[in-house]
Formats: sequence, C-alpha cells, structure tokens
Amino acid sequence: MSKPLIYITRKLPQHLLKPYENQFKFRMYSSDQTPIPRETLLQEVKNVDGLLCMLTEQIDEELMTHARHLKIVANLAVGYDNINVQAARKHHVIVTNTPDVLTETTADLTFTLLLATARRLIEANRLIQDDQWKHWSPFLLAGTDVYKQTIGIVGMGRIGEAVARRAKGFGMNILYHNRTRKFEAEDELNVVYASFDELIKQADFIVSLVPLSQETKHLFNASTFKKMKSSAIFINVSRGQIVDEEALYKALESGEIAAAGLDVFKDEPISSNHPLMQLNNVICLPHIGSASRQTRENMINLCLKNLQSFFTKGEVLTPINA
Ligand code: DGY
Repeated sequence: MSKPLIYITRKLPQHLLKPYENQFKFRMYSSDQTPIPRETLLQEVKNVDGLLCMLTEQIDEELMTHARHLKIVANLAVGYDNINVQAARKHHVIVTNTPDVLTETTADLTFTLLLATARRLIEANRLIQDDQWKHWSPFLLAGTDVYKQTIGIVGMGRIGEAVARRAKGFGMNILYHNRTRKFEAEDELNVVYASFDELIKQADFIVSLVPLSQETKHLFNASTFKKMKSSAIFINVSRGQIVDEEALYKALESGEIAAAGLDVFKDEPISSNHPLMQLNNVICLPHIGSASRQTRENMINLCLKNLQSFFTKGEVLTPINA
C-alpha cells in the first residue's frame, strides 16, 4: 500500500520528520520564514492525504474543494480561527490543534509582557540605547506595581489558569471571566468569577486570552475601554481581531487607559509605522506567545502524532471536530 502523502506548509527541521519517514511521504514548502503563497498551496494540496499547516494559511472551502483526497488538517497552533471547521465537517476532513504543549510557555510570555509593560522595560532599554540616561532620579521611568494588584483574566482556559498560577505568586487578586464558571479553578487558585463588565471596571491588569469567534470579535472596543480604570493595563495574547485597534489607539493616546502589551494584531505582520507602534505606552511583540524552542518542537511533534494516529488507528489525540 502506498504511503499517505503529507504536505507541510513551512520548512520544518528534518530531524523531527525522520521518525515518521517510514510511514509517510512528506512534501514541504521551501521556506522556513515566509508563508506559502495561496496559489502554490492550492496547487500543492491537490493530491495530498494530510496537511500540516500554520496559522498563516486559510484552510477554507476553496482549499478543501481543491484538495479532493484531503482527510486531515493538523494545525500548528492551539487557535484555529484560520480554519473553516464547518467546511471541514462538510468535506469529512478531521482538524486537530496543539493544546496543552504550549500552555506554560504562553503563560510565561503573557506574564513577561504584563511585567514589561507595567515596569516600562522597553522604554527603559531605549533610554540607554539613545544615550539619554543622564542621572538617577526618583521618578525616572516609574512604572506601576504588579504585586498585590488585581488581574482580570478574560478566557479561563488552560492558559488562563496557568497565568492565574503565576499571578498567585505575585500576591495578586485574581478575577476571571469565562463562558462557564470554573469551580475547580476557583477552589484551587483562589480566583473569583466576575461578569465581563465588573472585571473590566475593577482590574488593574486586563488579560485577553479568549479564542477568536463571532462573539469575541471586537470584544474590546471603545465602550469597554471607557469602562476601564485610567490606570488599567491591557494585555492581549490571543488574537488581534478581539480588539478594535482604532479604539485601543484612541484609549491609549487620550489616557483613557494607561498602557498595553500586545502580542497579536488584526493584520499580521505589522510594521514600524503602525499607529500603535508610535505610542510610548505600548509594547508590541511579533506573535511569539508559544515561541520557545522546546514548545515549538513539541507542537510539531503533536501535529505529527495526530497524523500518525489518524492514519494507523483512525483516531486523533487533539481533535477539533472529531
Ligand atoms: C496559537 O497556538 O494559537 C498561537 O497563537 C501560536 O502559537
């Protein structure tokens, strides 16, 4: 029997594919940096049985119509808003993602961004780079405390809970908002459920960890920023479209809120002339939430294991649409 053909949309390290070479025939895009052009992808998927893709690819009705033999899509991300799951269902294509393996790494980055924004680390580094550090002075780059402040976590999934564990170490009061109450987390982590409105009004740090959906698009908008404290710091590590970026810009520029730490944007990548990059009270990162070497390898391995399990046993480890 011929081996299933798997297409990989970015060049991945060969040593990670090696253990699976007996089982699969791999084809891979040539670049490890740039996303595959749409037209190339549509050509490449024509005869494939499986696809290992990045969040930069739109896996939609058109693609699935082209990929007539496609049976499984393994998405190298926990978020899967790049995939039309309904179309996948219709075309009998299984979709998997990479939960769990990236939880702690993403929580680390979330907390790093929170601390860096609160204590103005990028501005401080730039001051020295620009040779502007002339004297020590009492309020030079004075930020805001994190210890014992109130954090509001919007989206209490695995990463939310991991952020809460870190916040506990900083003696923070922890509010959370989620579609369903998390009673176990409330007991174990001392986190307190709040309505979305209560949370955004009370929290000193508002951390967005919700997946992107029709309901969460522009969850943070002009009216939500208005309700936040003027000292509030907003952190987003989920998806850019959760936020109305124009409203965020206005809120930050006018002092309606104090600062923001952003790892994700509506249109990625952004460039240095993006309006949010012009503000001193914003830290922007290039979508690196889960970007540690170990975690990225673990994510790739999980994708490969899902493909292996599907083609040997007909089941997968982390299904989106079993
Ligand atoms: C995800 O997994 O959804 C992140 O955004 C990329 O690691």
